This record gives sequence, C-alpha cells and structure tokens, in this order.
Amino acid sequence: MRDDPVAMKLIEIEVLRYRPEQDVEPVPQVYDVPFTDDMSVLQGLQYIKDYLDGTLSFRWSCRMAICGSCGMMIDGVPRLSCKTFLRDFHPRRLRVEALAHFPIERDLVVVIDDFIGKLERIQPYIVPKTPRTLAEGEYLQTPAQLDVYEQFSSCINCLLCYAACPQYGLNPEFVGPGIMALLHRYNVDSRDGAASQRMEIAGSEAGAFNCTAVGYCSEVCPKHVDPANAVNQNKTLAAKDYFLRGAKPKGGKR
Ligand code: FES
Repeated sequence: MRDDPVAMKLIEIEVLRYRPEQDVEPVPQVYDVPFTDDMSVLQGLQYIKDYLDGTLSFRWSCRMAICGSCGMMIDGVPRLSCKTFLRDFHPRRLRVEALAHFPIERDLVVVIDDFIGKLERIQPYIVPKTPRTLAEGEYLQTPAQLDVYEQFSSCINCLLCYAACPQYGLNPEFVGPGIMALLHRYNVDSRDGAASQRMEIAGSEAGAFNCTAVGYCSEVCPKHVDPANAVNQNKTLAAKDYFLRGAKPKGGKR
C-alpha cells in the first residue's frame, strides 16, 4: 500500500460475513478502506484483514488470475477479486459476498466438495489410448489437434460459472458448466482414450441436457473458456453417443 495521501481515496466495502460460531445467517459489515487506483478488490480485503479486522476470511493465492481461488460475488456479479479493481466502483459502496450457489464455510469462503467430487469423476487428465514407455518418447500432436481443445484447457476451476448458472442453483445434481468444459477438453484431445467413459456423464440426466442454455457462464468466465460452447457441443455428442451405443453389437467395438 502506498502512503502518499494525495493518491489515496476512501471506499466503503460491505462484506457479507458469516461466522458459524456466532451468526445464525450472513450479516453485512461495512469497512472504510483507503485505496489507490492500482488496488484490486482482493487488496482491499487484504487491507481489511491486515489493518481493520483480522477475523475476516477469504481465499486467495496467486493474485494474478491464475489459481482461481479468489472468486466471489462483487456487486452481485461472480468475479475474481484479484482481477477486479476498486477504482471501478468508487465513489459507490462496494458489496462483496461469498460465491452464489455454494454453502458458506465462513465469510467469503465456500464449500467446494461438490465440485471436487464431480471433477474426480470425469478423470481430468489424459488417459492414453495406448500407454507408451518413456523410452518411446512423447505423444505427438499437430497444431490443428491442439486447436480443438486449447481454449477449454484454460479453465482455472474458479467456479464463477457455477455461481452464474441458474440451473446449478436450482439443481446441484447438474454437473455444471466448468466440469462440462473440462470433460470436453479431454474428450477431444487426440491423445486421450477415455471419452466413452466421460460421455456416460455428459449424456446422463445430470449432464449436458440439464443445461437450459442461459449462457451467463461464458459471460463471467475470466479466461474466455466459453463453457456454454462445451455444453452445447456435448448435447450433440451425447445424442450421437446414445445412438452409437444402441447400434453397437453385443461384445463389439465402436
Ligand atoms: Fe489467484 Fe485471484 S488470487 S485467481
């Protein structure tokens, strides 16, 4: 924090707090935070924690939109707090809340067990079609093959798309936009051989067809992954997979 009084302004940050040992439900608390134009919302929260109220809880790590841990509702919109600047809200009061659609653990920290469980189920890694030894060298891929999935590989698991998804808010069984994007990322990778297992999830009742095509997930995505595109592609792919499974002779290969 710079201490040049000329450059300093003051902004009110209203944080929706929840301390399970004392709060029956979340309650707002307002802090006056001095800031400079280069300060992010995350830095505003860090100022509160360091100088005003050490009990405030929130997650962060990289401070550069890479780790995906600082997502929260900022003025009602799911955003990364390290990529959102206080200057864009001044002189208004800024409201900060935990990510929508997730249980609150404490203050701005949410419980992400549901997402992690779903992530594990899709095998978020390359399952080689034919395993190779190190001595056989790397799995080669053309630029065109990379292009097919590269956009979807930018997902940082920040969960903003889940907070934006009305369907996930109504039905937590829905695998959700982020998982669909990651599932797609591996399924269309030319090196992967586990697409048929993942398509069982994509085509299930909780899969792609659960999406109601609102598209807000792609609007809030800080990495331009476009999860709505992945979901839409999987509606077609899941339908195709369904018919191919039906057409498959017993014991035969697809
Ligand atoms: Fe890592 Fe914001 S702190 S994405």
